[in-house]
Amino acid sequence: MKFTAVTAAALASVAAVSAQSSNTSVCDKYSMALLNSTQGAAQKTLLTLVVNSALIGNYSNATSATATVKPTGILTTNGTYNGTNNINLLKYFDGSLLSTNRNGMPSSVNFLDGGGAAPLMQNKAANDMTSNQYMLVSHLYEYFGYLLGCSSLGSDGFSNYEGSTSMASVHKYMNLDSAEMGYFIQEVAYAALSFGVTMDDVTPVGTALNSLFNNKCGAPQAVPATAPASSQSICVDPSCPVAANATCTADNTGTNGTDPARATGSSSSGSSGSSASGSMSAAGASGSSGASTGSGSGSGAGKTIAGGAAAAGLLGAALGVATFF
Ligand code: HEM
Repeated sequence: MKFTAVTAAALASVAAVSAQSSNTSVCDKYSMALLNSTQGAAQKTLLTLVVNSALIGNYSNATSATATVKPTGILTTNGTYNGTNNINLLKYFDGSLLSTNRNGMPSSVNFLDGGGAAPLMQNKAANDMTSNQYMLVSHLYEYFGYLLGCSSLGSDGFSNYEGSTSMASVHKYMNLDSAEMGYFIQEVAYAALSFGVTMDDVTPVGTALNSLFNNKCGAPQAVPATAPASSQSICVDPSCPVAANATCTADNTGTNGTDPARATGSSSSGSSGSSASGSMSAAGASGSSGASTGSGSGSGAGKTIAGGAAAAGLLGAALGVATFF
């Protein structure tokens, strides 16, 4: 199973995994299996399903009837990863923190301004193509489409990646730690698993995501392969592992452990350790648009179903998923 051009070139361990199986990418294999096509439109649909599910939790009737794990959603205040509870990633997306890099300055940006969860549940990036949400979510389709080796990226409505090519720079002011990264990657993996991607195919993806992004001090690498080489280190909190053969510099160590400040006048999406309100998760929203205000203000819209979250976490643990990523 070929994972990606970048991992084949940059990550010997993943290249070895790839060489053992076939030359078909994960994206091509599953766009054919699930959507009977490797055209750009089908591959964009596949990435839309995976990314939207990872962001808001399981919502799609395309979910496999035999799915043993389902994502609870990145846009939450109470994620669980590997025994760590109350992981709050929503606060990085709702504008409550000065955590976004704009022209080298920590800035507050609301990435839920395109309708929040409601359009995501309709298999769209956002209601409004000029929104921050549309830009971010579209870029995630393209970037993960590249990472998963979609052969039709760049055609038939599925654009090549058009965002920043330094993940260290994009995530610089978030000061993300291992649990936050682990939860994000776990949710991407659970989303893929929920659509029928096998554990054998998900595991090398998780390994590659960890190798590329889940560390600090990473040496410059070109992602996509045509981009200038830049650091891709996203996990830069002092607790994060140091990348192999790394030299720590100002470009790959984020803020050296300083958490982002709260944006002036913002209402928090919930500090860590808070209760389960404020989630944007589709679980429990019952298809309503109640979670779509985009404020992420912790008002209680779209509460996560605790039982669903716990069940997925337990199943994941039982399957050993969490320990793979
Ligand atoms: C495997 C791990 C991750 C990957 C591959 C990844 C990838 C990306 C990509 C491709 C973008 C779009 C950049 C652009 O539009 O120029 C992005 C933006 C963003 N990511 Fe991540 N990400 C990861 C982990 C995380 C985590 C753990 C968080 C924390 C909540 C996070 C929060 C964000 C936010 C808030 C943005 C918008 C930043 C901006 O537009 O400046 N990401 N990410």
